[in-house]
Amino acid sequence: MTAASVEPGSGTATSHPAGGTAGRDLADGTAIYQGGGIATMVRNGEPYGAIADGALAVQDGRIVWVGPRAALPEQFAGAPRIDLAGGWLTPGLIDCHTHLVFAGERSAEFEGRLLGGSYEAAARAGGGILSTVAATRAATETDLLATAAARLARLRADGVTTVEIKSGYGLTLADELKMLRVARALGHGQGVRVRTSLLAAHATPPEFAGRADAYLDHIIADILPVAVAEGLADAVDAFAETIAFSADQVARLFTAARALGLPVKLHADQLSDGGGAALAASFGALSADHLEYTSEAGARAMSQAGTVAVLLPGAYATIGAAQPPPIAAFRAHGVRMAVATDCNPGSSPMGSLLMAMNLACSLFRLTPEEALAGVTREAAAALGLAGDVGTLEAGRAADLTVWDVRHPRELAYWMGGLRPRQVTLGK
Ligand code: NIG
Ligand code: FE
Repeated sequence: MTAASVEPGSGTATSHPAGGTAGRDLADGTAIYQGGGIATMVRNGEPYGAIADGALAVQDGRIVWVGPRAALPEQFAGAPRIDLAGGWLTPGLIDCHTHLVFAGERSAEFEGRLLGGSYEAAARAGGGILSTVAATRAATETDLLATAAARLARLRADGVTTVEIKSGYGLTLADELKMLRVARALGHGQGVRVRTSLLAAHATPPEFAGRADAYLDHIIADILPVAVAEGLADAVDAFAETIAFSADQVARLFTAARALGLPVKLHADQLSDGGGAALAASFGALSADHLEYTSEAGARAMSQAGTVAVLLPGAYATIGAAQPPPIAAFRAHGVRMAVATDCNPGSSPMGSLLMAMNLACSLFRLTPEEALAGVTREAAAALGLAGDVGTLEAGRAADLTVWDVRHPRELAYWMGGLRPRQVTLGK
């Protein structure tokens, strides 16, 4: 890969040990990682964008140089070294689809499905998403913050340095804002970048039962503008499905979101082919997510729009979906594929992004390299952060994870138990 220098960023990087040896404090400027492999995840023709005996220079929380150790420029000769000890350095992992803020749990629904029920039947019977809405409305901001912080700590212990968090269990102005404030608060002081998505169009709340269009009007007139004005939403998401919102309703919401300058994402074709992937693509969505029932035409539309396919094997496995997403079509059309936990109490009570990688390989037949790209480079694209995180190259934030593995494919290989030696959030 090409070695290049850039102007250093400013500010202070912090190290966040996730078990094992603590990271060196980089506050005083430059440090060099060396003594192992670097999976840059840059598309440079090498699997994993790998540099077998690499060096990576960090200055004030930004990556300023990456390349073979033998080519490290003289200017770094005196800088302190951080020894990879034969392990591998990867970008900090990115969980680009979570519902991390919620109250309660739905293990009874899980059990019910195993006794013969279905996800849709539970939703129609007033359980499902609406039961989490009731619990989340009743919870205080302090309680939501405490439970979500514990979930976030588990993800961070997996090497996650960026996480997307959706609202969608409030469904009133006050409760959606409450969820988004909690999500924002999680981004302060836990060593993780947080991106928020307003998912008020997740379900029709009880007070609007049978009047989904009126609820949509309320979101567009009252919730969306305030979330934007208060700086609480980085994107707008919706659930397009027979048990949720129609294509016309989603289009109305997305038109309003785009008018306010917000990017959009969509829960699409999870339970049936509702043309969700093509709908998302027609709005230039950052991502379309789930996609089990997406058609070939949907894949083609996503490719043309540059919409990332976010694959959620936790939801696929938990719901017991009848078919996996059309991975072959995504590959054939060059659709970028991300992988995420979809952490939520209903369809995917998953607390590990490494587990999502493993399941994406076992259940969807992704390669380990696709799975790692799916939680780094492609996940960054799904959040509109491609220029800043997700690859190890000069000019990117020094979000770094050090692993005691012999090869980066091991990140997708182990089924639980693997933990990074060091996790560092850059600037
Ligand atoms: O991503 N598909 C809709 N939303 C969530 C599930 C939320 C829930 O069941 O509480 C999902 O699977
Ligand atoms: Fe989801």
